[in-house]
Amino acid sequence: MRAKDFIPKPYQNTKIEGKVTWSSPSNIALVKYWGKREPQLPENPSISFTLSNCKTITTLGYSKRENDGKFSFEVVLDGEKKDAFKPKIETFFNRVEAYLPFLKDYHFKIETQNTFPHSSGIASSASGMSALALCLMSIEQTLVAPHDTPGGGQGAYDESYFFKKASFLARLGSGSACRSVEGPLVVWGTHDKIVGSSDLFGVTYPFEVHPNFSNYQDVILLVDKGEKQVSSSVGHNLMRDHPFARERFHQAHNHLTALKEIFKEGNLEAFIGIVEREALTLHAMMMTSMPYFILMKPNTLKIINAIWSFRAKTGLKVCFTLDAGANVHVLFPENETKQVLEFINNELVAYCENGNYICDQIGYGAKKL
Ligand code: PMV
Repeated sequence: MRAKDFIPKPYQNTKIEGKVTWSSPSNIALVKYWGKREPQLPENPSISFTLSNCKTITTLGYSKRENDGKFSFEVVLDGEKKDAFKPKIETFFNRVEAYLPFLKDYHFKIETQNTFPHSSGIASSASGMSALALCLMSIEQTLVAPHDTPGGGQGAYDESYFFKKASFLARLGSGSACRSVEGPLVVWGTHDKIVGSSDLFGVTYPFEVHPNFSNYQDVILLVDKGEKQVSSSVGHNLMRDHPFARERFHQAHNHLTALKEIFKEGNLEAFIGIVEREALTLHAMMMTSMPYFILMKPNTLKIINAIWSFRAKTGLKVCFTLDAGANVHVLFPENETKQVLEFINNELVAYCENGNYICDQIGYGAKKL
């Protein structure tokens, strides 16, 4: 599919007002997206676990208005007006307007809340942009005529087209948001061995996955809840002139190729090797860009070392990954939950800010409420 396949035909229906609610999960990348080109296209393919408990719930109210050539919207977070979010949403609306030509015909009230604390250092942009994109898709769904889509289908957009376009729109809000529409494993970025993969939107991983990966667990250790020192946009841009960029992008392709076999065979040792290397490579890229920066904190390293010792001692298949921040995601198979939680409580909680962590697991994607 090409971007222009997401431009709708003239709408057939009118809708004066309404309200729609979607709940979208966060996701954690196993092979990282780091480096992009216009318009928000990834320099390498990535793959993520969709999460289950960490999510954003957004209600989008809409009412028809005179189109005055501007966007009209208000943002409410946890019941309070949040004007600080407006510039990001204005940018998003500008980027997606060609694909959602109804945007200036309505006033929108965006009411949003996260299930995780805002100051947790967990990015809400992936779940937030996914939820908003899905709400907009639900509105568009009521405006299009039956069978008026490349997807065809009953009533309006068929499910596959609906989710593809939602992911396409979410990507234009925040790249990794396109992996927060479906689940449990989502690939974003063209990869020659993954059928249907695209730079334009995320697709559910299309091959066999061994039961070892069912209900995979993710405990997020909140090491540092402060604001990120460097936004991910700035970080992505620093990959442009990065001396190791080409090799890194190439490595991501190879890691995805290797994961295909690993997912099929259920080889957890090989899985750990790729996931931890990806996390450290992401941070190594940050540490070697110009300007360079370090997002890990001393406690991030203490946790990593403790996980390595525990794994060596017990033989359990627990490993870590990192986002663009200091928090640590502890990943492990479901059958190790008891021992790993005990380990976290005994040894790792001390490294978390105020002892805080969040228990999550693989999830199946966004839901309309
Ligand atoms: O979606 P962005 O622009 O916030 O970038 C996210 C980048 C990482 O979280 C570091 C990696 C990833 O693939 O999610």
